[in-house]
Amino acid sequence: MAKARMTTASVADSLSIMTGVMGPTLAKGVIVRRPKVVALAERLDLDGGAVRRMQKLRRRYGDGPLRVRMPGPPRVLILSGRDLKRVLDGTPEPFAAASSEKRAALAHFEPKVALASHGAKRAVRRRFNETALETATPMHSLAPGFTEMVEEEVELLLRDADRNGELDWDRFFRSWYRLVRRVILGVEAREDHELTDMLADLRARGNWAFLRSRAERLRDRFHDRLNRHLERAEPGTLAARIAAMPTTPEMAPSHQVAQWLFAFDPGGMATFRALALLSTHDEERELAMEEADAATAPSRLPRLRGALLESLRLWPTTPGILRETTRDTEWENGHLPKGTGITIFAPYFHRDETQLDFAHRFVPRIWAEGDPAARFPLVPFSRGPGVCPASDFVPMICSHVLAALLARRRFRLVSHELSPEQELPGLLDNYSIRFAVS
Ligand code: HEM
Repeated sequence: MAKARMTTASVADSLSIMTGVMGPTLAKGVIVRRPKVVALAERLDLDGGAVRRMQKLRRRYGDGPLRVRMPGPPRVLILSGRDLKRVLDGTPEPFAAASSEKRAALAHFEPKVALASHGAKRAVRRRFNETALETATPMHSLAPGFTEMVEEEVELLLRDADRNGELDWDRFFRSWYRLVRRVILGVEAREDHELTDMLADLRARGNWAFLRSRAERLRDRFHDRLNRHLERAEPGTLAARIAAMPTTPEMAPSHQVAQWLFAFDPGGMATFRALALLSTHDEERELAMEEADAATAPSRLPRLRGALLESLRLWPTTPGILRETTRDTEWENGHLPKGTGITIFAPYFHRDETQLDFAHRFVPRIWAEGDPAARFPLVPFSRGPGVCPASDFVPMICSHVLAALLARRRFRLVSHELSPEQELPGLLDNYSIRFAVS
């Protein structure tokens, strides 16, 4: 029997998807953001426009998936929560996380990372991540030491901000990565900006995936330097956690750790945006701080975690979750061949006011209250077997950074106008956020 052809977007709609949904995401930089393009995207509301375009497609074509006419292997967009669940719960078979464009992008700096691996290798590398990051436990066993590091780094950052009278992204980010290098590698790596600068160069190449040649010498130097830090296994760090685990060369620890160093960059963006939200939503800030004052560190801080997760819902740092089919699959509206690329555009699910009455507002409590199933299809950390293995680790670090900042100073957002009375913008450019600090 002939296989039903998948619902396919018209040429005009396919062009509009490429220019209005995929284009801006690629232009902003998938592996490392390009600040000028992020600023432009904020000004032109490209992210809001992309969500509206997706909503129009669903009205026109139904629940999808929707095949896009474009050069290269077949590609579909996911348009319903039901299909999102099917794809993410069906990772890595038949929906592989290691899609070809992801493998090409990550090969520039971490070809053996779990995210770019498949089959037995992926299973081993995924387990490595879950064990070291203690994915199954809500609070990492090394959290008490990490929260002390947070307190020390925030104190130093604020002294610097006091001298300047202002806190901007550059100051915040330099301090953020000192903390990240301490948490992962130890105090000896605190000032090793060169390590993360090397990674940033490699990531900039990763933005171009197949289109840019690999800088293999730089990649080797980066991994040698990272391995020297890991070998020290400084007590109280993730490097020590790794040293206490049985590891095999197949696990390629430095490739997994490169991903951690890389992925803390969006953690910094989400934290800074959450600070912008908290500094402009007085009621939410008071509630969160009451809770933080009453807590003994380290604590789960549900409201500050909620603030961080809201920052990620409103402005997802992984807007495109990509999969590739490993065999032919059948759907209600047609057939997809093996090798089809699947795109889940998270902002469409997170900011869909036809499904969520809180779509454009800051509502931290949705992450703390009620049945987690009710939060579906919100996927800031993805879901299913490919869910981010740091989906508790990241909020733990970020919520403690927010608590430490807000306990010490008042922050007034001077760069943007955000308010509980107005819908929040489609994008908040983290690079231009500035606070007056008092
Ligand atoms: C705001 C911060 C972060 C967000 C929003 C985030 C989100 C995500 C998402 C959506 C994925 C799935 C990607 C895909 O399937 O294509 C993912 C994968 C992953 N994340 Fe995170 N992440 C963050 C930070 C981190 C950090 C700090 C670490 C490590 C310390 C980490 C470790 C990983 C790893 C190892 C994977 C690959 C998992 C696999 O393929 O099985 N992430 N993350």
